[in-house]
Amino acid sequence: MNTLNLVLREKQYSGYQPDHETQLSERIADHTARITVVGQGYVGLPLAVEFCRVGFKVIGIDIDKDRVKRLNRGESLTPDVSHESLLEMRNTGHYEASWDFSVLQNSDVILICVPTPLRKSKDPDISYVLDTVEKVVKYLRPGQLIILESTTYPGTTEELLLPLFQAKAYSAGDDVFLAFSPERIDPGNTQFMVKDIPKVTGGVSPACTRLAALLYRQIVSKVVEVSSPRVAELAKLYENVFRSVNIALANEFSLMCRQLGVNSREVIDAAASKPFGFMPFYPGPGIGGHCIPIDPAYLAWKMKFSNYQARFIPLAEEINQSMPGHVVDLVSDALNERKLCLNGAKVLAIGAAYKRGVGDTRESPALQIMASLLRLGVQLSYADPYVPEIVLDGKTYQSEQLDAAVLKASDCVLILTDHDNLNYQDMATHASLIVDTRGAMRGIETGSAQIVNL
Ligand SMILES: NC(=O)c1ccc[n+]([C@@H]2O[C@H](COP(=O)([O-])OP(=O)(O)OC[C@H]3O[C@@H](n4cnc5c(N)ncnc54)[C@H](O)[C@@H]3O)[C@@H](O)[C@H]2O)c1
Repeated sequence: MNTLNLVLREKQYSGYQPDHETQLSERIADHTARITVVGQGYVGLPLAVEFCRVGFKVIGIDIDKDRVKRLNRGESLTPDVSHESLLEMRNTGHYEASWDFSVLQNSDVILICVPTPLRKSKDPDISYVLDTVEKVVKYLRPGQLIILESTTYPGTTEELLLPLFQAKAYSAGDDVFLAFSPERIDPGNTQFMVKDIPKVTGGVSPACTRLAALLYRQIVSKVVEVSSPRVAELAKLYENVFRSVNIALANEFSLMCRQLGVNSREVIDAAASKPFGFMPFYPGPGIGGHCIPIDPAYLAWKMKFSNYQARFIPLAEEINQSMPGHVVDLVSDALNERKLCLNGAKVLAIGAAYKRGVGDTRESPALQIMASLLRLGVQLSYADPYVPEIVLDGKTYQSEQLDAAVLKASDCVLILTDHDNLNYQDMATHASLIVDTRGAMRGIETGSAQIVNL
């Protein structure tokens, strides 16, 4: 029995009624707190499984009924959770998926991991968060801890969520507990998984921060407590603005290096030999996924209310969004040198996912590039071991099986995603022209193939 339990036991004998914070702390510390994670996607499922692993009983709620059924069959839908471990959590009764929000009633801890995309107007779309919070508020009872993990603009937790809880006449920090703690998972990254990434946590009161920090300490070794939800919200946005701006710098640098006839990756690697004050970022065909193309816009949008026009954020976006067009030009120029034109050329695109190791095609620049090539008359095929089919301009394409014949038949092999499980040596041996936007061919014996780097 831990110290907290002992103190409580003593107090209970003397007629003492512990307050909600103390009671919940005890349930978290001995892993009897019932946890519900709302949203079972790339973020919510690995988080749920991590809490199961240390002994908590977790319910994963999702509005997608098909997803819920598959999860209950032990079918994982993210690379960060194996089918085996999900099945084990199901069989031991630690994990269950559901679409029934009434389970919130019996939950001690509710973690919200629903999407926060952009609207067509590029304004934040937090309708998924609001929809979830409405349901949380419907079942709200004293003693619950609610933590928002979805990436969002600064002020969401205090300006939007807190008043909804207060409207139910609950006092945050006494009856119910509310905090923000951003998810920082990098799907497909086997070096840093949920348990390896420190959690930043900011509650609307010190008690809220304490409880949220205690919860995360059960699954991660480092929790960074900050003074408010706003600091935690901004920390996440700053991380992704930092990535977006540095990727844009690398992208622009690659355009400059090309003019100078130098391989930008060689320069960046040389610069990265400096042991301090430098962090390498590399150029690529553009940015994709659910974070880097979207999150910075959340901050820029919020700043407009203070009459402040962000400058780095839109500049980085402009440069990063110009990269797909630049890649199309690269392919066109490379074919032109061989007295070929895009119209009618056979281009085999390698990779449809936005990054290596995942099958996620959300905002993928690869799709944008392929769609542009099609409109210019290219005879397109693609291969991605993680993405069995894609739809471009209303037409479905199946992923090719990569072999010597397919590679030899292409006028140009265009590497858009550098998945680890592809045979780049085979590409170098059998293709005649390779446009490499990811540096995948570095260190590969080129054979007869001509390599064009971004
Ligand atoms: N994917 C990443 O790499 C990543 C990393 C860090 C943070 N985030 C942030 O985490 C949040 C979730 O992203 P994700 O990638 O997991 O999204 P996702 O699309 O993979 O998963 C979200 C899940 O929520 C479900 N959902 C939507 N509305 C719901 C509702 N009202 N109630 C219950 N379930 C609902 C969807 O059906 C889906 O299964 C976003 O804010 C995102 O920006 C994502």
